[in-house]
Amino acid sequence: MERILVSETVHKTGEKVRVAGWVANRRDHGKLIFLDLRDRSGILQVVVTPDQNAAHEAASRVRPEWVVAIAGEVKERPKNMQNPDIATGTVELAAEALEVIAEAKTPPFPIDTDGRDIEEELRLKYRYLDLRRERLRKNIRKRAAIIKFIRDYLTARDFVEIETPILSKSTPEGARDYLVPSRIYRENFYALPQSPQQYKQLLMVAALERYFQIARCFRDEDTRGDRQPEFTQLDLEMSFVEMEDVMSLIEALFIELVEMLYPEKKIQEKPFPRLSYADVMEKYGTDRPDLRNDKDDPDLLAFAWIVDFPFFEKSDGGGWTFTHNPFSAPKPEHREWLMAKSNVEKILTTQYDIVLNGYEVGGGSIRNHQPEALQRVFEIMGFSEEQIRENFGHMLEALSFGAPPHGGIAPGLDRLVMILEGEPNIREVIAFPKTGDARDPMMDSPSPATSEQLKELGIRFGES
Ligand code: AMO
Repeated sequence: MERILVSETVHKTGEKVRVAGWVANRRDHGKLIFLDLRDRSGILQVVVTPDQNAAHEAASRVRPEWVVAIAGEVKERPKNMQNPDIATGTVELAAEALEVIAEAKTPPFPIDTDGRDIEEELRLKYRYLDLRRERLRKNIRKRAAIIKFIRDYLTARDFVEIETPILSKSTPEGARDYLVPSRIYRENFYALPQSPQQYKQLLMVAALERYFQIARCFRDEDTRGDRQPEFTQLDLEMSFVEMEDVMSLIEALFIELVEMLYPEKKIQEKPFPRLSYADVMEKYGTDRPDLRNDKDDPDLLAFAWIVDFPFFEKSDGGGWTFTHNPFSAPKPEHREWLMAKSNVEKILTTQYDIVLNGYEVGGGSIRNHQPEALQRVFEIMGFSEEQIRENFGHMLEALSFGAPPHGGIAPGLDRLVMILEGEPNIREVIAFPKTGDARDPMMDSPSPATSEQLKELGIRFGES
């Protein structure tokens, strides 16, 4: 008999069906044995009566997390036995045959709870079991639905989804790079991208005009609840636009996304308020304020744009460094100052950050599409001609081949899903995240390379 999903049983009262999945729970009442069977669609109660000899004997052996297939008749439950907490709560399956497909060792932790009290190390070591829990399955499926919504939304608006390299070159986003040694070019390294920033701008020079990517980014920085060493951005870039165009596109996308996928949620203010960096710093002491009127309301979403950031700030060495993105354009009214390298502390950037409930969920800007303006940025930061040529020569050159005005943004997908799902940590919405100290206890990574690998790469470690 063909297998059906447990969610389909509600429409099959009186019919013989076959279901398959994992035993979530077994309650042995001596004569009657109840099994909760879990598959990708939900949970179904199965009743095994003693007159079904073989099935009853098998059911008395099974343990949680065994994989079984059960055939039987779908019956409506008596009214007083219905369970409104599960989608199949009006029916149950009267088992006639039970086949054990795979036995399971006793799991290291319970799976039928929300799992919040279980030690993280253990959860991540057995992440494939942790992911069986309903909360995580829901998060992972919702994440997929959000990504699909975004893909459809942008594709319908003539954006092209383009993959950019992972083996790349260092690009300044303010964090440390992950480096990958090259075997062919001894002593040379690829860098994993901190973001596809340079590639997406080069795609604008390439006349693609509208690009997006669900982009994996890598940053070797301290992990926190809202930070992972590798994470995912919705990265996009558009040509012939100004700040307002990018901001209103993302704003409309977020509003429609919430309305479609989270109809129970309320957006506090539409259009999203726009606040200046100086004002929020003065009023809230942070550039990612939590603007919710009621912080106890789990369904309230307070989006806001933060604009008018200073372009430069003093670096530790006393010179100037960029606050957000060296490729950004200054606000048009401050372009003269940039070109003259005057009033550096007063130059504001076209950067816009989007914040949600106290988190920075995205940032972007209009870029310097004129090479001489970008050159000035690097000069203000004290780079020598040679450093500029070496690190950014390819960008400056590309911009000299007819670059359109362009700008973009990159919302952090993990953070967005975390907030929408009401989770306190992005690890809860990533299938295989790293621990707080950047390890994967399941794969045991990072781990030493073999001596053959190191030899091939020409790498030798010192004694200390
Ligand atoms: P930025 O560095 O601000 O901008 O990153 C954009 C967004 O990515 C998310 N994010 C992270 N999420 C999880 N873990 C991390 N370690 C992490 N770091 C950043 C945040 C952040 O707002 N290239 C520019 C974008 C642009 O200008 O278009 C960039 O990467 O939600």
